[in-house]
Amino acid sequence: MRTYLVTGGAGFIGSNYIHYMFRKYGNSIRIINVDCLTYAGNLENLKSVEDRENYTFINANICDSEAIGKIFAENEIDRVVHFAAESHVDRSIKDPEIFVKTNVLGTLVMLNAAKAAWELEDGSFKADKKFLHVSTDEVYGSLEEEGTFFYETTPLDPHSPYSASKASSDMLVKSYIDTYHFPANITNCSNNYGPYQFPEKLIPLIINNALQGNKLPVYGDGKNVRDWLYVDDHAKAIDMVQEKGRIGERYNIGGHNEKQNIDIIHIILRTLQEMLSEDDPRRKNVREDLITYVEDRKGHDRRYAIAPDKIKEEIGWYPETMFEEGIKKTIAWFFENEEWMKHVTSGDYQKYYEDMYGGK
Ligand code: NAD
Ligand code: TYD
Repeated sequence: MRTYLVTGGAGFIGSNYIHYMFRKYGNSIRIINVDCLTYAGNLENLKSVEDRENYTFINANICDSEAIGKIFAENEIDRVVHFAAESHVDRSIKDPEIFVKTNVLGTLVMLNAAKAAWELEDGSFKADKKFLHVSTDEVYGSLEEEGTFFYETTPLDPHSPYSASKASSDMLVKSYIDTYHFPANITNCSNNYGPYQFPEKLIPLIINNALQGNKLPVYGDGKNVRDWLYVDDHAKAIDMVQEKGRIGERYNIGGHNEKQNIDIIHIILRTLQEMLSEDDPRRKNVREDLITYVEDRKGHDRRYAIAPDKIKEEIGWYPETMFEEGIKKTIAWFFENEEWMKHVTSGDYQKYYEDMYGGK
């Protein structure tokens, strides 16, 4: 039985990935989820898997080399899927240090622990061991012109402390591939959306605020473009890269779904109106006049767009979920999981929101 070590599995993409993997492989794999449960880590995301015999949660920090080394010493790990990171650009602008600690040093700890466990005396590696580093398209910087795309060969040109820390971790992984022939892949994915996404990110924030009749903050002119991918498609891509990708290669993952932020907000408002029943009291809250232009994000990248050609040609992956379908599934999930939203938006989140948006 193949054993996966998933870092950051209590976060948004990590928990969706764990659900995807159990749906796909059932009891034929084992997953160990290592997460130190920051504000973004939530074990509620994993309630339906926590009793499985082939699932284990370990509360540990990826910067703690002793704790991570112990996990490798006590388990024969076959796959590492490394999600754990600080992931929010706005937070990185306010407090970059934790981004460097977790994203850079934490990745180094993961690489060293896997290398120590998998390396043989002659410097080669045990057969069929693989490390996948989950990264972002933001490492490539910003595209100004329409019709241009990020390719795997696009030079790294990060602008925010978040993307700089992710680019640094990509480079560390690359250095292990180049220096030690360490069996790793890097994936650079565009913006994800879907169930369990923390409402500091655009899509869940807009859904949550609109349902409550709160202002919908738009940074700058609202015309920044992101390429949105439904999270299950990302989970599938990660699995396919790990099983079918060429070792040592980088693969871009994207939705072929570029949209301006303001258009995303209009689509969400329209979809909420369609999906809420006539007598639902939240219906009257969902209004266009909630849209509020606020101060722009510092260093705000204008446009991201991924060319997922290599992953399609080599591996056969392509984005399956159309945005209209994905956003309906996402909204339906938020309707069904009001308690989840209540829990994550209490406490620390309220303070974050007040600091970030001035209590609006
Ligand atoms: P998230 O913020 O929702 O989750 C991060 C998880 O990592 C949380 O469970 C948190 O508790 C855990 N974590 C943080 N620091 C840790 C530490 N020091 N030790 C152990 N666990 C720690 O993030 P996400 O949106 O799910 O993103 C996951 C990964 O995917 C990140 O590496 C991110 O850079 C990358 N990514 C995200 C997107 C996106 O749109 N969200 C797009 C492309 C790539
Ligand atoms: P975000 O979800 O934070 O993802 P990222 O910055 O990693 O792409 O933001 C997506 C886009 O939405 C980005 O251009 C910033 C913008 N945005 C707003 O306009 N208002 C908001 O309240 C947030 C959180 C983001």
